[in-house]
Amino acid sequence: MFNYTQYNESQAEFVEIAPLAELPPGQRLFVEIEGQPIVLFNIAGQIFAIGDVCTHDNGPLGDGEVEDHEVICPRHGARFDIHTGKVMGLPAVVDIPAYPVRVVEGMIHIGIPNV
Ligand code: FES
Repeated sequence: MFNYTQYNESQAEFVEIAPLAELPPGQRLFVEIEGQPIVLFNIAGQIFAIGDVCTHDNGPLGDGEVEDHEVICPRHGARFDIHTGKVMGLPAVVDIPAYPVRVVEGMIHIGIPNV
């Protein structure tokens, strides 16, 4: 599973997503890149991007509650770290992708793996 904390930035191609102003603190933004649903979170001014599909049974993670830096799947309650995509609570046992994020001249960019 792609986890940006384990990759060199040269292994990702950055794609422009939206103006930072469209994702204020506490909000979410849903996008699809190359058929992959991705949800972006603005948590206290920091932007994070993770896959929007729960690895337990394909639940819509981006609709889940956020506690600290974990998102809780609205279907059966699995928990994932928004920073890394790491699974933090059952019933899911497989991590989700976590993507590197950059803000360049007021625009949010996500790094998509090219390896
Ligand atoms: Fe996410 Fe079941 S689909 S916990």
